[in-house]
Amino acid sequence: MSKSALALRVNRQLIRAIGDTLDGVKTAMCVFDDQDRTVFWNRSFLNVFPEHVGKVFEGEPYRDNLRRFYLARLSPADLPNIEQFIKMGIDRHHSQMRPYSFDHRDQRVHVSSLPLPNGQRLRVWNSERLARSEPLVIAPQSKAAVSDETAELLDRLPDGVMLCDHDGMLKWVNQAFVEMYGCQDKQACLNRSFFYVYDQAWLKEQNVETQATKTTRVDLTEQLNFSGTPFDITLPGQRTVRIITQKVVHQDTVYTHVDVSELELQKSLLLQTQAQLLELANQRTLYLEEQMLSTLNAIALARDNETGQHILRTQRYVKTIALRLRAMGHYLDELSDTDIDTMFKAAPLHDIGKVGIPDNILLKPGRLTEDEWLVMKTHPIIGENTLAATKHEKEHSHLLTVAQNIAGGHHEYWNGEGYPRGLRGLQIPLEARIMALADVYDALVSERVYKKHWTHERAVQFITEKKEIQFDPLVVDAFLCETNAFYEIAEAFKD
Ligand SMILES: [Fe+2]
Ligand SMILES: [Fe+2]
Repeated sequence: MSKSALALRVNRQLIRAIGDTLDGVKTAMCVFDDQDRTVFWNRSFLNVFPEHVGKVFEGEPYRDNLRRFYLARLSPADLPNIEQFIKMGIDRHHSQMRPYSFDHRDQRVHVSSLPLPNGQRLRVWNSERLARSEPLVIAPQSKAAVSDETAELLDRLPDGVMLCDHDGMLKWVNQAFVEMYGCQDKQACLNRSFFYVYDQAWLKEQNVETQATKTTRVDLTEQLNFSGTPFDITLPGQRTVRIITQKVVHQDTVYTHVDVSELELQKSLLLQTQAQLLELANQRTLYLEEQMLSTLNAIALARDNETGQHILRTQRYVKTIALRLRAMGHYLDELSDTDIDTMFKAAPLHDIGKVGIPDNILLKPGRLTEDEWLVMKTHPIIGENTLAATKHEKEHSHLLTVAQNIAGGHHEYWNGEGYPRGLRGLQIPLEARIMALADVYDALVSERVYKKHWTHERAVQFITEKKEIQFDPLVVDAFLCETNAFYEIAEAFKD
């Protein structure tokens, strides 16, 4: 048996043992996997939720479990919105961290849900039978919902407090609540649902029931009745109120309403500041990168036997080919605007490895001997190593990586017969394959101490012949579409 299969079996045995143990103290338990499928439930689970008897099965999506739950519970008015209730139930299933209580089938059910390793979730329920002898609703007329002393105390609170009966009707509210929702007075809220108060707060503002408030109404029902976790609602004037289910007293539920508008405002300001800081940091990185680039360019130029114009021309050839390749639909994954811009910036560093070639070879006014050639051919590796050493250990610079690829790969051949590594085809980075052609074209049409310049036509002819031998065939195709542009660049940036 493989290690992971063994771990799974041990895990299942453990879950089963815990489930059985919890049965001993009449605690229901259910485990869901990382895709919200039912993995395990114990006997007590079916006692608390008899609607699942004979229906729940291993692998059943939590969605189906919730559907049965809500079908049994929702009022006829809320039933058409069952899909939204289910969606919110699933969202809550993922985020729930605090225990809460609700009534179900004459039972007060306390539930706790926590994530397990590997994305699983464990839910446990404890239930107690509701005392039936207790009156379900304490009518405000017959008995004060809140004693005078408590009322006085709660009226001093800056946060809104509401007391709801078993059916969700308001039995008492404090002064802060009245002000928060713009109610006429305390009396005007009594025996109303909280939705009514909430709707009124918006209606005053808009005179129509908007789709938004309709949607919110469903959310509110779900949150107030089943969630048990704090949730936010919005009020006119860009205010945000956080509603926290405090505690269930007999049949009543106390909710605290905290105005968190300022907090939310601060939060968004903080996020804005964070974004600005990030932007500044990026700008700074870019600036440092530019600085480093110009230093490297200066070094490259100082030690190159080529002219400064060679660098200006080749980086333009590279960009021209890259843009054409993209227009032809080739290598699209590697040719975003940023990629092309990076290639353009990195191209001047292709021969930076020449810093390591001795003067007598680098500046020799004639053809090189075979031995001298061998030394000369080390420049791609020297360049690659130089750029690698420039890279800051932690900060990965894409620009330097591209420059490294170009420096190390611009003398490789498509057929594998180039140097320094003899890479072939797509093993050679795209930027190096493009650079290879640009560099050769420029060398051919430029005059050197040891050679006359070739005509543009002859250079085009040569490159065409080297398609699939020295050069990437698609890069040659792109070049052939851009020969006029190459000619113009060569003329514009003559030595
Ligand atoms: Fe080179
Ligand atoms: Fe070059």
